[in-house]
Amino acid sequence: MYLCSVIHNIYYMNTSSCHLDVFTLSNGSNLQVDVTPLGCRIIRLLVHGTDVVQGFDKAEDYLPERHVSYFGAVVGRYANRLAGGRIALDWDIIQLPQNSGPNCLHGGPQGWQYAVFNVEESSERKLVLTHVSPDGDNGFPGTVHARVTYTLDDDDSLRIDYHAETDRLTVINMTNHSYFNLNGDLSSSIHNHLLQIDADRYTPINEVSIPLGKHAPVDGTPFDFRTAKPIGQDIDVNDPQLLIGRGYDHNFVLNTRGSLEHPCARLESPLTGIAMEIRTTAPGMQVYTGNFLDGIVGKGGTPYPARSAVCLETQMYPDSPNHRWPESTGYLHPDAPFDSTTIFTFKH
Ligand code: BGC
Repeated sequence: MYLCSVIHNIYYMNTSSCHLDVFTLSNGSNLQVDVTPLGCRIIRLLVHGTDVVQGFDKAEDYLPERHVSYFGAVVGRYANRLAGGRIALDWDIIQLPQNSGPNCLHGGPQGWQYAVFNVEESSERKLVLTHVSPDGDNGFPGTVHARVTYTLDDDDSLRIDYHAETDRLTVINMTNHSYFNLNGDLSSSIHNHLLQIDADRYTPINEVSIPLGKHAPVDGTPFDFRTAKPIGQDIDVNDPQLLIGRGYDHNFVLNTRGSLEHPCARLESPLTGIAMEIRTTAPGMQVYTGNFLDGIVGKGGTPYPARSAVCLETQMYPDSPNHRWPESTGYLHPDAPFDSTTIFTFKH
């Protein structure tokens, strides 16, 4: 694994011969999580024995030579899109790779989903992984020291703590990109999942999925999840916002405003009765309903068609550095480390 890290830092050269470890965390009752240091990926999440995340059978299957995907990964340096792949830092305009139309998506083509993190600490319930992203990594300035901590608790919670520090002004947005399906069949549609989001507003997007810069009320729109409703209920209505991303692919402005006290969202499968509550310190949550899944074959030969998973990515708003949102700047300053926590609590 050490060899893999070194190789990764030399621009991700041929990692196909790497053996990747898998760390199994268990809370001793209903929750088990398997994580590989490649992209800090959650590759299996068992709730009462049911796997609720899409992905592949083996850790090596997540290598870019085998599959290009974000399944289960911690994405960075900047999750979601930066308009035109550009950011302004002090007086400089930095051009980043444009890997999603004109935009930079999830930190560029060689984002952290392919970085082999170092394992700092590992025990039955806790895993601490770190990564040093060098100055100029995917075009981003500043050396960033990132840390991700996974912890399982007695109440069937998976807690993820993100931490990052820089030696120079840069941007940051870390989240986990798990593709959830609570139906017990990872190829089934998530249209039946009941989703509730504590958000009065969302950030509408332009034709290339960049926020327009204003918050819009969810009231009277398909984006109103303040009362639980099936994801499929309004997903195919003729709404210009939904047409852009072929479904939901939008950031919600969370009413919880950084507090872990109340859930910001709840997802439930009526088939299995498995439910997941989310608490977060992040200001926003990107809801992506797997609209671009194309039938890629995953665990046990299972195909994952469009809308067979939902990603609930707690984070800064997309493209924050190019907007003026006090609660979500997207910048990382040398004197102010980034800290963010998200807790997924499962019920059955
Ligand atoms: C984005 C989608 C994108 C998906 C996979 C989500 O976070 O919002 O637009 O297709 O990630 O990259």
